Amino acid sequence: MRFESGYTIGMHKFSRRTIFRTAFAFPFAGLLSAQSSEPGLRAYAAKKKLLYGAAAGWPVLRDDADYAKHFAEECNLLVPENVLKMGPVHPEPERYNFEPADYMMEFCKKNDMRMRGHTLVWHSQGWPWLKTTVNATNARKYLEEHIATVAGRYRGQMHSWDVVNEAVEVADGREDGLRKTAWLEFLGPEYLDIAFHAAAAADPQAKLTYNDYGLDYDTPGNEKKRDAVLRLLRGLKDRKAPIHAFGMQAHLDWKAFQNFKAETLRRFFRDVASLGLEIYITELDVGDRDLPDDEAERDKGVAKVYEDYLTVALEEPAVKAVLTWGLTDRYTWLAGRNRRPSGAGARVLPLDREYKRKPAWHAIARAFESRKA
Ligand code: G3I
Repeated sequence: MRFESGYTIGMHKFSRRTIFRTAFAFPFAGLLSAQSSEPGLRAYAAKKKLLYGAAAGWPVLRDDADYAKHFAEECNLLVPENVLKMGPVHPEPERYNFEPADYMMEFCKKNDMRMRGHTLVWHSQGWPWLKTTVNATNARKYLEEHIATVAGRYRGQMHSWDVVNEAVEVADGREDGLRKTAWLEFLGPEYLDIAFHAAAAADPQAKLTYNDYGLDYDTPGNEKKRDAVLRLLRGLKDRKAPIHAFGMQAHLDWKAFQNFKAETLRRFFRDVASLGLEIYITELDVGDRDLPDDEAERDKGVAKVYEDYLTVALEEPAVKAVLTWGLTDRYTWLAGRNRRPSGAGARVLPLDREYKRKPAWHAIARAFESRKA
């Protein structure tokens, strides 16, 4: 059915431009999914000048054509789940492994999709050779070389980079709330500035992001962490570090969501935006362990968390992108975590194991629709 400047499909209206771009922009999947008459979440996001994407697994993106097809249909932003982390991409001091990320970058170009890099500096899944090779004297050299090589390879091609990931851990007891990592030990808090300046030199076009988790709820622990993250962001801005965005991981959980208060999230996002930073929801998923085994019940509970959280988050104009940490329940990091006593599989992402759109998918679509253009 036509409306003034486009078409109404299902419950939503799309401009002719969105329809055309979505239908002919990539080879894997045409405009209309085989499973429904509605375009993918990328079209809902694009309609509001947002990006929607997901973490992409490897080698499944190369080897599972079904996964690749649905990924291309639903997403206009891709983040490699693991292959650009310090250890996987730089397994030996003189050796890098760019094959997976190169493939993913080509996949993005073929499918009219952007890519964001994750992550240049992290305390987890780091260089296997760190402890035997790196010390306070040579740490800066190794870190700057790593960032120059990895970020430099995709210069001008990346939407954004998680330059530093999860640098705050209040429980470590430091006054500044910084996590006690090897990088802090070797270089002090200045490692953050070093990383952002090295990333800017390597790729002046990428939006350089600080990414973290555990900030979503109205609890004393999350409040302390929000304060420490804001302090970190303000410090970088005050020292003129080239930071452009904050990544809110948003690993949510149905039971923990009872501590969610809309005004708390609104205030935090207002504080971040007031620093002149964009905000990306970078790793959204909803743990379902404490919901009943019944799939309809679980899907309903998970969908409500997606919609309640995203509707509030998308009120903030500084929020420019939403990514789920995976697209389908077939491949989620939560499959192995908090296993259900019954052994039933996790149902935490927009598509089920057979790539069928779940209530969570529709909840995300409605949240995009709720965004004031
Ligand atoms: O690739 C190796 C494989 O060669 C080896 O045989 C296998 C068994 O040891 O391990 C494989 O590496 C695993 C990797 O995922 C790829 O599957 C690592 O052991 C495993 O620790 C790693 O887990 C990832 C985790 O980060 C740690 O890097 C998860 O997939 C990934 O979803 C998770 O994502 C993180 C974000 O990067 C940061 N925010 C939190 C989020 C969830 O923890």
